[in-house]
Amino acid sequence: MATAVSATSSAYDRMKEVKEFDESKIGVKGLSDSGITSIPQFFVHDPQTLSDLKPSSKRTVPATLPTIDLSHINSVNLRPEIVEQIKDAARTWGFFQVINHGIPVSVVDQTVNAVKAFHEQPHEVKAKFYKREEGKGFMYASNNDLYRTKAASWHDSFNMWTGPEPPEVEELPEVCRNEVVAWDSHATKVAESVMELLSEGLGLEAGKFKELTFSEKRALVGHCYPYCPQPDRTVGITSHTDPGIVTVLLQNHVPGLQVRHEDEWVDVKAVPGGLIINVGDMLQIISNGEYKSVQHRVLANSWKEARISIVIFYNLAKWSEDGYCGPLPELLSPEKPPIYRNFTEREFVENFYSKGIDSKSLIEKITIHN
Ligand code: OGA
Ligand code: NI
Repeated sequence: MATAVSATSSAYDRMKEVKEFDESKIGVKGLSDSGITSIPQFFVHDPQTLSDLKPSSKRTVPATLPTIDLSHINSVNLRPEIVEQIKDAARTWGFFQVINHGIPVSVVDQTVNAVKAFHEQPHEVKAKFYKREEGKGFMYASNNDLYRTKAASWHDSFNMWTGPEPPEVEELPEVCRNEVVAWDSHATKVAESVMELLSEGLGLEAGKFKELTFSEKRALVGHCYPYCPQPDRTVGITSHTDPGIVTVLLQNHVPGLQVRHEDEWVDVKAVPGGLIINVGDMLQIISNGEYKSVQHRVLANSWKEARISIVIFYNLAKWSEDGYCGPLPELLSPEKPPIYRNFTEREFVENFYSKGIDSKSLIEKITIHN
């Protein structure tokens, strides 16, 4: 009985601390800027997560993410080779970097600078945007899953839901308004080209994913990973997979992103001007397991400068008439039966909001075990 009481009271204290932090609206950036030397207890992760943060030394030469050069995608002769490369990367890594994607370097730099500028604004300015209403318009908060997760992580983010309805321009903060709107449109063109290549890689028509409305429902997230005084006690973002179809990520030069590959954590070294693309759970499912949605995480930032990333998540805007989603019938045959059952949009959404981001249970839940 005594144990039960103390467990309840410590859980209560934690929630109180979390709430106070949330209501102060200062974010992790505010904590970091205040000069604290130790992090609040509710950011401390469990021993297992923490022991897994140390670099493993199994490999002598560290693996590197595949890089796909998009310069020649319109060349009839060279395109098939690019399709092969991207297909291979999506099957084996689930993550790759694209270069020569056509977005001017100036646009890339302006986007990163504007998102950084948002997070560097004075507390009073940012606090006006601080809220937790997910799904439409613009929202800024620390840890989207703050109330759903066991331990908080060392980042703040803003979210802009761009589809199906674009946000009102006046709702967006002036400091990065034009830049995020421009980035959304530039990055979406790249996402569409990449999805055409991935579609061809499955033997489907190039326009298949566009037709499925993958690019019409998007969320643009501007993450800030400020300096963390105890980077070995927490994480920047917990290990997770992205739930949607595909994700496009732009980051500044401060490292931290890691991808799970062959049972190891591999550092993602940013190529200047490069964009990182990864397969989401939904693409793993509709490709019947051909493309992989892999775990990734961000280490807590030990650099004095903030790490910035701008991530766009692409989700299906329209589900089929019958309300279900699952492996595409075109990809199935007696030799290749479905490995996942169909599921509803409600199951997808409920699974996402039922817990912190560190869970892959939708895929586990719908896997057909023979
Ligand atoms: C995410 C994510 C990585 C990063 O937001 O889902 O994995 O580098 N972000 O910010
Ligand atoms: Ni992610």
